[in-house]
Amino acid sequence: MPTIQDFEATGKTEVNPLREGLTRRKNPDPCSIVLFGASGDLTRRKLLPALYNLGRDGLLPSKLAIVGFARRPKSDEEFREEMLEAVRDNARLYDESDPLWDEFARSIFYHAAAFEELEGFGSLSERLERLERELGLPANRLFYLATAPNQFSTIVKALGKVGLVPPPGTAGGWRRVVVEKPFGRDLASARALNRELREVLDENQIFRIDHYLGKETVQNLLALRFANGIFEPLWNQKYVDHVQITAAESLGIEGRGGYYEQAGALRDMVQNHMLQVLSLVAMEPPVANEANAIRDEKVKVLRAIRRIRPEEVDRFVVRGQYGPGLVLGERVPGYREEVGVLPDSRTETFVALRLAIESWRWAGVPFLLRSGKRLPKRVTEVCIQFRTPPLHLFGEDTASSVAPNALVINVQPDEGVSLRFGAKVPGPDLQVRQVKMEFRYGTSFGTPTPEAYERLLLDAMAGDPTLFTRSDEVEAAWTLVTDILNGWERFGKDPYQYPAGTWGPQEADRLFEGTAGSWRRL
Ligand SMILES: NC(=O)c1ccc[n+]([C@@H]2O[C@H](COP(=O)([O-])OP(=O)(O)OC[C@H]3O[C@@H](n4cnc5c(N)ncnc54)[C@H](OP(=O)(O)O)[C@@H]3O)[C@@H](O)[C@H]2O)c1
Repeated sequence: MPTIQDFEATGKTEVNPLREGLTRRKNPDPCSIVLFGASGDLTRRKLLPALYNLGRDGLLPSKLAIVGFARRPKSDEEFREEMLEAVRDNARLYDESDPLWDEFARSIFYHAAAFEELEGFGSLSERLERLERELGLPANRLFYLATAPNQFSTIVKALGKVGLVPPPGTAGGWRRVVVEKPFGRDLASARALNRELREVLDENQIFRIDHYLGKETVQNLLALRFANGIFEPLWNQKYVDHVQITAAESLGIEGRGGYYEQAGALRDMVQNHMLQVLSLVAMEPPVANEANAIRDEKVKVLRAIRRIRPEEVDRFVVRGQYGPGLVLGERVPGYREEVGVLPDSRTETFVALRLAIESWRWAGVPFLLRSGKRLPKRVTEVCIQFRTPPLHLFGEDTASSVAPNALVINVQPDEGVSLRFGAKVPGPDLQVRQVKMEFRYGTSFGTPTPEAYERLLLDAMAGDPTLFTRSDEVEAAWTLVTDILNGWERFGKDPYQYPAGTWGPQEADRLFEGTAGSWRRL
């Protein structure tokens, strides 16, 4: 039996099957996917294109049925036509001459029914059994809830009632449910939803999606930290001055005023995406590269974040709301002028927070988070800013012209990592200037990065929950966020106004008090 070393010693250039075996996993077992909300925006823009891309990459199960479930009546053929348009408009791998489409389309079906009517689930069950017989599929079923959040629990109860999800432990194929965001709107509603889902499902059947975790760069945080020897020794309060996480969007609310009025930046971005990223940045090394080991460490971080008492909310959290302004050269209206928004709305379109993680590793290191709409550009990044050297050997001028070392992980749009450090300017004097060492996904690997939903759908089919959020993580995140929401309700100032196209209200700068830093100019 050859070893990897034997293989490498021969210098062969073809694919090394041993190495491949270590990194590439097999395609998921044949299954059916039911998309609840099949005529919705998410299915059209993300889910069907992601499934198609997986097909193009040869990653789908050898046999598959995709059943769309929504209210409006239409035939399989009509639904396939709609999905062809969705794929044409949104799939990164689609091309006109693609021979895959016809074959892929034959695995797509449509089932018209309302979520509130049990008969529709009974007939779905019969339809799935028939398809499984005809296509030779096992009874492995993935139910994807791409619906409004207030329909999650109705659908799961109906799945239980008609036996589409039999009681846990029953023999037969696997049954899994993917739940979209938002998962609750505060701690009480998230707990209630967890309880309702668990009346029908085991925790290991519930896949709560956070599409940020499907992004390559977010997963690269684990590789960067734990596949390298050089970063981890510095990854603590001895060497890190502070950590900044930014999730900025230049877009406004895109006609979704009704939704956004109920959400706001804290619920929409911080409770899920930003706290998930923070927990990957701050977690301890897991005992294994295994779903629960990783999620155990993430939840410990969330629990170690110091809770913000209601009366402290304006000290640690700044909220803002965009007024009219110029974004990327275009004049845009203020939030309160958007359709579906109240003229005296207090909903925040920007939020900045200063969090403290009370752990041995992070004591005294502020974590500064900011997220907003109608900011100057779309960018998501994590910046680990290190302490300055203990002695300014090259004089005060250098100390002020060279910013402290920073490791920046770009999540979007230019996925990559860069390291900022000081270097000598060529010439007879000893002048130091700031330079950057960069790694870009696109240039280093030369392959387009898959969409987050591709990875997450593949993992859900394969039964790997690592990149999905466990119930205790969701509840720990909501605990922190609900404290802030309560504080705003009782003691919070009105959101500060900021002109669209700027980096949010200046009041957010004071969150840096006592640190050597400021918000990065991106
Ligand atoms: N859109 C995004 O980019 C995005 C991003 C992240 C997360 N999400 C989440 O994904 C979920 C879906 O969002 P979406 O934007 O796709 O919603 P959407 O466009 O409003 O679509 C809703 C879907 O649900 C169906 N539906 C509604 N009520 C129904 C009922 N009583 N019975 C049967 N079908 C019913 C609709 O079917 P009919 O048209 O036939 O009525 C439609 O297919 C939400 O939880 C959202 O927060 C969306």
